[in-house]
Amino acid sequence: MNRTHYCNDVRDHQIGQSVCLSGWVHRRRDHGGVIFVDLRDRTGLVQIVFSPGHEGEVHRRAHELRSEYVIEVHGIVAPRPKETENRNLPTGMIEVNVTRLEILNTSKPLPFQLDDEDVGEGVRLQYRYLDLRTQKMQKNLQFRHRANQLVRRILDEAGFLEIETPMLTRSTPEGARDYLVPSRVNPGQFYALPQSPQLFKQLLMISGYDRYFQIVRCFRDEDLRADRQPEFTQLDLEMSFVGPEDIMALTEKVVAGIFHGALGREIPLPIPRMTYAEAMDRYGLDAPDVRIPMELKEITGIMAQTGFKVFADQVRLDDKGRSRGVIKVLRVPGGGQRLSRKQIDDYTGFVSVYGAKGLAWIKVNGPWREEGWQSPIVKHFSDAEKDAIQGITEAQAGDLLFFGADTVKIVNESLGRLRVRLARDLDMIEDKPFSLVWVTDFPLLDWDAEAKRPVSVHHPFTAPSVEDLALLESEDVYDLLKVRSRAYDLVLNGIEVGGGSIRIHDPAMQKRVLSLLNIGAEEADRKFGFLLQALEYGAPPHGGLALGMDRLMALMLGSESIRDVIAFPKTQKAGCALTQAPSDVDERQLQELQLRRVVRPKVEPT
Ligand code: AMO
Ligand code: AMP
Repeated sequence: MNRTHYCNDVRDHQIGQSVCLSGWVHRRRDHGGVIFVDLRDRTGLVQIVFSPGHEGEVHRRAHELRSEYVIEVHGIVAPRPKETENRNLPTGMIEVNVTRLEILNTSKPLPFQLDDEDVGEGVRLQYRYLDLRTQKMQKNLQFRHRANQLVRRILDEAGFLEIETPMLTRSTPEGARDYLVPSRVNPGQFYALPQSPQLFKQLLMISGYDRYFQIVRCFRDEDLRADRQPEFTQLDLEMSFVGPEDIMALTEKVVAGIFHGALGREIPLPIPRMTYAEAMDRYGLDAPDVRIPMELKEITGIMAQTGFKVFADQVRLDDKGRSRGVIKVLRVPGGGQRLSRKQIDDYTGFVSVYGAKGLAWIKVNGPWREEGWQSPIVKHFSDAEKDAIQGITEAQAGDLLFFGADTVKIVNESLGRLRVRLARDLDMIEDKPFSLVWVTDFPLLDWDAEAKRPVSVHHPFTAPSVEDLALLESEDVYDLLKVRSRAYDLVLNGIEVGGGSIRIHDPAMQKRVLSLLNIGAEEADRKFGFLLQALEYGAPPHGGLALGMDRLMALMLGSESIRDVIAFPKTQKAGCALTQAPSDVDERQLQELQLRRVVRPKVEPT
């Protein structure tokens, strides 16, 4: 007889039946003669019992069992004696009295206890195949499987075709470095692993496959964080003859379908929308966590005549009448009471990481006219300025005001991140597990101060907004940076889980945008000639989006890191602790590739 049930499927309606189970010895307990084993497989646990007396041989062999031995047992399902029922376990009302035992394999003692929460991630990743036996990882990967199946079903029903695109390809610019693969057949030449299937999905639109999707691996050589891996998975999709509304509506259907089908949660549709300009203005970040009840307020105008030098430097106008920077204030309700001087100083250190040169503050103990404002800077403010600050912040006794004065970028990023950090530290995030928002109308271009040229905010194939086409002709960078694009991001709890845009389908416009990015005609031809040419052969209007599946899964499961939803993730140093990749290679392989090693790689333990 082969396995009849998974462990977790043995329930009280099988009482009296004989079953055959296979799995791992999770725990063995010897109760003065009777031996209890928790038998585990990917579904969960069931208690199996070896009693002395009858079946004496089976009982004798049960003494040999150790943790993680692989066994097959035959037995009869029986109700547990009343006092030993375990209501926390789905199979806790029954047990299986074993009549036959086969030890299929033994196991060395494990390097760590599976359910020991103090075991470091390093060891767990080194023995990932053991870590994957844990209930948490079993749950996470099975959840992810379910989400993938839901995606496929929903998109198939919506008329989408699942089409694969190459992994060995040319560079597709998404703003990160490429992983390169040397070609043996073409010595000295390299493939790039795709940062996304962006160009191929556009080509598929030109070929007429007007609804495409793929659950696809993407590769980006960038600095890693908890929500970034060098290889990660996108749900990538593209549609023809659509506008942003259609793509957002379709995405909402997919996301709501995953939440409903995998988590049993309903996402209210439509998902709220906010322009990029509004997100930056109110929250300082393009991926705002709208569950935090604090907002930034701009006071640049109020401070136009200020005597406080730190602020005055930022509001001074240049010869074109444009102010150098901005001043914003963040009111922290109750912050004056809850934050010590030391903590305020620590936050000054926190914002300095984002380029802020300081973090001015006011502790509001009461109305300023009654000497209620405590701060090293208020002495520089006029009465009118203090009234205006009071008016705009509506500060109450007990609050703290934080000020940022610098370039728009620095002020938004430092106060935006400070807002999130404060909300975590002071436990101010609204108790709502999933908060989704679309951020729309991203700018087309950003200024790369180092390279002194504009760069794409999304990618170079994103269409500019129709209303801003005139600005796109301007010679003034200030105007160019104001051009909006037809791009949108989906944000979940302050984390970007997806992004997309309507694409340029007019070859002349594509050339214009590439030239704005300082990509000359020759370079454009070399790198994207195939796309520019394809656009000449009847390219339909099209657009799409990609969801970061690792991030979405991690957020849905409440995981801190996307490593928790990836079977074999990389470490913070982009290595695989299990296989020790990347690794040195044989001299012979290098010769075949006609590559010579200049630096011998230092082999470091990851
Ligand atoms: P984008 O670069 O915004 O868009 O990527 C889409 C989504 O992928 C996720 N993501 C990542 N997840 C884990 N690790 C990473 N290193 C990583 N980088 C990105 C994010 C992000 O929102 N071709 C376009 C899509 C399009 O325009 O259709 C693209 O790749 O959640
Ligand atoms: P200072 O005049 O340099 O002693 O600064 C007075 C206060 O202003 C200190 O609390 C600084 O942290 C703060 N400060 C300095 N520069 C800035 C800035 N660019 N934005 C906000 N606050 C600042």
